[in-house]
Parts: sequence; C-alpha cells; structure tokens
Amino acid sequence: MESPNCKPLVLGIETSCDEAAASVYDGISHKIHSHIVASQIDVHRMYGGVVPEIASREHLKTLPLVIDKALKQASICISQIGAVAVTNRPGLIGSLLIGLSYAKGLAYQLDIPFVGVDHIEAHSMAAHLEHHINYPYIALVVSGGHTQLYYVESLGEFQLMGKTLDDAAGEAFDKVAKFLKLGFPGGPIIDQLSREGNRQAINFPKSFINEDHFQFSFSGLKTAVTRYVQCHGESNLADVVASFQEAIVDVLLAKTVRLSLQKKCPRVVLGGGVACNSRLREKMTQECTKKDIQLFIPSPLLCSDNAAMIAYTGWQYLKRGKSDSFDLNAVPVLAPDSYL
Ligand code: KG4
Ligand code: ZN
Repeated sequence: MESPNCKPLVLGIETSCDEAAASVYDGISHKIHSHIVASQIDVHRMYGGVVPEIASREHLKTLPLVIDKALKQASICISQIGAVAVTNRPGLIGSLLIGLSYAKGLAYQLDIPFVGVDHIEAHSMAAHLEHHINYPYIALVVSGGHTQLYYVESLGEFQLMGKTLDDAAGEAFDKVAKFLKLGFPGGPIIDQLSREGNRQAINFPKSFINEDHFQFSFSGLKTAVTRYVQCHGESNLADVVASFQEAIVDVLLAKTVRLSLQKKCPRVVLGGGVACNSRLREKMTQECTKKDIQLFIPSPLLCSDNAAMIAYTGWQYLKRGKSDSFDLNAVPVLAPDSYL
C-alpha cells in the first residue's frame, strides 16, 4: 500500500476561493509544521462578497510569499519537500488555476509527485488532523459555497445523503449580514452579535426540519429575515440575527443527528467555515452527548479554508501510491456523477 518513493513532508496549497494558504505537513509524525493563510477579506469587503477576477489576481501576488512563509515557519528549504498537494476542485476557476499551476511548476522543478485534492473532501478530513476517527462516520460540510451531508465509509468512499437546494449555510449568513449592512463575511459577525440577542424572539422558518430526507434550503429563511426587517425595522437587530442563526443551527443539527441515528452510525464530523459557529458547536455537542454520538469538530483554524487539510488529505492518497500527472485540470464544479 505505502509508496516507497514518496517522502513524507507534504506542501499543501489552497487557493480555491479568496484565501491563499500553504502548509507543511509531515505524514510520518502526523504533525503540521506550518499553517499560513493570507485572507483577501479586506480587498473584497467593499464589494460585500468575493469578486472572482480580483481573487485570482491577488493569489498571483500572494501565493509565492505565502509558500515562502510556510517553508520558513517549518524551518525547511524547498528541496526537503517530498510532494505537493493542491486543491484542484471545486472552486473559482481562476483561483484554482493559480494554485494548481504553481503546484505543477514546483513538482516539475523538484521532480516530486503532486496530487490534486477535492476541497470538500479536505474539509471533511480536517478533523482527522486532531482526532483519531474510526470509519464509517457522518460528515457535515458547511461552508460559504456548500452544505453537504455525507455518509463516509472509508477514505474517498463518500455517499452524498443531502445538500442544499439553494443557498449554502455560509452564503445565507453572508447575504443576511449584507442585507443588514453588518459587514463581510457575515458568519462571524452574526455569531458575535447573536450573543446579545434572544434566540427565541422570532420564529423564523426551519425548512424541511421534520421531513424524512436530508436536503436543506436556506433561501426562504433569508427572505423571511429581510421581510421581517422591512416590516418591523432594525431596533431589535441582535434578536433578529440570534433567531436567524438558531433556525440554521436547528436544521443542521436535526438533519445530521437524524442521519446518524438512521444509519446507526454514532460518529459525526463537522467541517467548513460555518463549523466555527459557536452556537452550532455548542448545540451539536449537547445533542450528540445526549444521543451517545461521538462528535469531532476541528479547531476553528482548521474549519475555515486552510492548506493543512489539503496537505493531510493529499498525503492519504500519496502514501497509497496515488499521484496525478501534469495534465490534471482545475474543475470549478462538482462532477454530476460524483459522490462528493
Ligand atoms: O470554509 P470556508 O472558509 O470557505 C469556503 O469554502 O466557503 O467558509 C467560509 C464561510 C463564510 O460564509 C463565513 O461567513 C462562514 O464560513 N463562517 C461562519 C463563521 N465563521 C465563518 N458562519 C457562521 N459562524 C461563524 N462563526
Ligand atoms: Zn472551504
């Protein structure tokens, strides 16, 4: 199984959206030697969201510096790297291409293997960096672009059990925050402001919460919040966002726990930027404890976009002898027949 030719120091590269990240991960000692993330939030803030063309231009400027920093933080030189793992799907096509081209160039120059990694799979694998997790498990990936619920049988064996039919959970946070002029990205701002509000103040819709399937829908909730504020004004903004957040958390929680019970699979793994949400972490922990389900949530630094999860996931394939050839392309969307 193990590939004798693959040296264990893996350089991970992530540029699928608006973060350029690099990390050095040691597959033998299972240690993250460096973790660098350069966020473009300040550049995109004035537009209230990520502008794809600007994102890729920024990656061009910052990625070489980010990789340099990651090598310095790991106290190694580039020639000690044994392989490169890079996000090649899904994401913004221009942004993906910057990271992928850079990874190919490095692999060619150093004559080392490289492997393309699925960003969603990497989010679901991030928890493995901090916990020993047995298969099978239920994985909930909640980010700015995705809300997906998987039954994970083993490495790379994913069954997609449900996904959002419209907005992703993080997208709903961001759009509601934009509408309320709270800033960007909306998730952390709403998380913070919700602490001052009453979560039971407004009964916002919790789409599909009691239905026996695992699809999600958040666009009706978003519309309900905007209608509420148009009718009632913004005097109780903390209550509005706390009630909105509670509706999202309740739906994510109900579906995830129901799937775990239905599959008789008492292990749940969270990943993606929305898994930083303090209320989701708190409520999921309480409910899983009650139901005797083991819950694995990565530290916030490993929930949002980062390259340690890319290096780690890449290593899982590299050590089994899988690497990619230089004709590997960037894929912006999930393949229609893909489990992921
Ligand atoms: O995984 P991620 O860093 O990037 C994507 O792959 O999309 O996720 C970013 C998303 C954004 O929508 C952001 O608002 C949301 O994660 N987010 C949060 C929190 N921190 C980040 N949402 C809710 N609560 C948070 N604390
Ligand atoms: Zn992500």
